[in-house]
Amino acid sequence: MNDVRPESLKRITNNEAALAFIDEQIGALRKQIGNGKVLLALSGGVDSSVVAALLIKAIGKNLVCVHVNHGLLRKGEPEQVVDVFRHQMDANLIYVDAVDRFLDKLAGVSDPEQKRKIIGAEFIRVFEEEANKLEGIRFLAQGTIYPDILESKGVKAHHNVGGLPESFDFELVEPVKFLYKDEVRVVGKALGLPDNMVYRQPFPGPGLGVRCTGAITRDRLNALREADAILRDEFARAGLEGRVWQYFIVVPDYRSTGIRDGKRCFEWPAVIRAVNSVDATAATIEPLSYTLLDTITRRIVNEVPGINRVLYDLSPKPVATIEWE
Ligand code: XMP
Repeated sequence: MNDVRPESLKRITNNEAALAFIDEQIGALRKQIGNGKVLLALSGGVDSSVVAALLIKAIGKNLVCVHVNHGLLRKGEPEQVVDVFRHQMDANLIYVDAVDRFLDKLAGVSDPEQKRKIIGAEFIRVFEEEANKLEGIRFLAQGTIYPDILESKGVKAHHNVGGLPESFDFELVEPVKFLYKDEVRVVGKALGLPDNMVYRQPFPGPGLGVRCTGAITRDRLNALREADAILRDEFARAGLEGRVWQYFIVVPDYRSTGIRDGKRCFEWPAVIRAVNSVDATAATIEPLSYTLLDTITRRIVNEVPGINRVLYDLSPKPVATIEWE
């Protein structure tokens, strides 16, 4: 397999170049795939979404997308995948509600590496089960991008949950494997994907699982998801969406006292993390305004059951990693 970006592929920086790339890829995909069927694990991240949109244009319903909801996605994400791909793009999409499976497997597991392993292994199992139900699949599409090839010799992002079963005997279809992330976004925009998908901030494969530290419980995970939605909402209102590299909430597994409705309560803190980075190897803290921090804090402690305190993590990377686990 040739894994060096062809010199003839010019940088894709504008809509015109993206449209030319899309046209060319549609031809190449049709040539590679013919009447064959293609399977794709569609997370809703920008890479797999762009691959899905390209393949829908090229082969329509011969693409089978599988979206696994592992219960660790952000608020509204699984719904958006179904809405965009099934309803707007008329894709052949299998939505798998695997929330209970994942959360049951993770119950009581507090070791971060163990949690990651469980999430990765369960993802493969669910995907394999779905693939085995289908007949006549010859190809497997993947959202591999050029940095994946450069960093890990062709294996999709070193610690991504989207790693797929090694037992699969499919021919790979990787239409964006020579593109850098910014180019994938330009192509996604030209394909008509929504802005919040195209400009989505990095999101770890194990999702909210690494931000609900220690043993995940459903109530704390829900509190985290709601607080995170408020944070994103307020960032969007403040015009910071797409301008801060990565921002999210962490809800650690300890409680502190508070007073709610005149009674003593014992609830979790929500920790705000907002960082800027180029490639995630180092990160600086976004200097959020006090007004914004105050608005976010008031909303979270008033609107999210189980959270009575909001903190702002001021630690750059290094020494602190971006995620807490
Ligand atoms: P850290 O926490 O190592 O994170 O400073 C660096 C970047 O990688 C993301 N990250 C992950 N991405 N699977 C992923 O796909 C993971 O297990 C994972 N852990 C961290 C993190 O969000 C940050 O952008």
